[in-house]
Amino acid sequence: MDNRPIGVMDSGLGGLSVLRVLHKRLPKESLLFVGDQGHFPYGTKSQGELQHLVLNIGNFLVAHNIKLMIVACNTATGAALPLLQGKLPVPVIGVIEPGAVAAIAHHPQTVGVIGTESTIKKGAYDRTLHRLAPKIKVYSHAAQPLVSIVEHGQTGTSAAQTAVNTELAYFTNHPVQVLVLGCTHFPFLAPEIQHKLGKDVLLVDPAFETIKQTIRLLTQKGLLAGQNQGTVRLYTTGRRTDLVAGAQKWLAGHFTSCEHVDL
Ligand code: DGL
Repeated sequence: MDNRPIGVMDSGLGGLSVLRVLHKRLPKESLLFVGDQGHFPYGTKSQGELQHLVLNIGNFLVAHNIKLMIVACNTATGAALPLLQGKLPVPVIGVIEPGAVAAIAHHPQTVGVIGTESTIKKGAYDRTLHRLAPKIKVYSHAAQPLVSIVEHGQTGTSAAQTAVNTELAYFTNHPVQVLVLGCTHFPFLAPEIQHKLGKDVLLVDPAFETIKQTIRLLTQKGLLAGQNQGTVRLYTTGRRTDLVAGAQKWLAGHFTSCEHVDL
């Protein structure tokens, strides 16, 4: 039994798509979330900048006595996962390998991946999917403008649907059976994405497999919490009111506190 918190980070509201699954599956765990809105967006930054930012957040979380870190950001996972695993004194889990595992579980012949500019350029999904299923056909496509639609609270609007239609037009000529939502902001646009691609395309949200792997690891290491109910503490490097609004919407208000922090 270990009641220390689990640390979770993202560039912004996208991390809440992982946090909501984590909190639902493991309500006894205390969670510490950092949304790096002060440096949003991540998807257009260099690998060096991303490594610096993410390691800084990792050190902040470790200073707050976490027992495990989840990098709830594909861009940060692609740029910094091995670095974090090498430097931090706690286990660190990313979202790309789980996302690829979840896609392959459906035995598709064609898989699409949408992500930030950085994630797609880095090619981590392509490599991981081909390692797991060498014959699979992968179509990867950057959809960076969709990140801002979510971050600025525009999901469910006609502007959101128009942006999704534009960004995913690529898949009209590159049809896929499964689409990996390779940016943690994108599950919040799932209705618009499904509407654009049609109901026959299966959308994969890496959060579910990520949390499955988290539970496995905590169980193996004897690190699961033993308390009745965990706390959910949110930090943002940006405006506190923005993260509060996002958490009201995407966590249905299930958080204990929300503070600004300079990192
Ligand atoms: N949510 C992040 C991801 O999963 C990054 C989005 C961004 O800041 O560009 O890649």
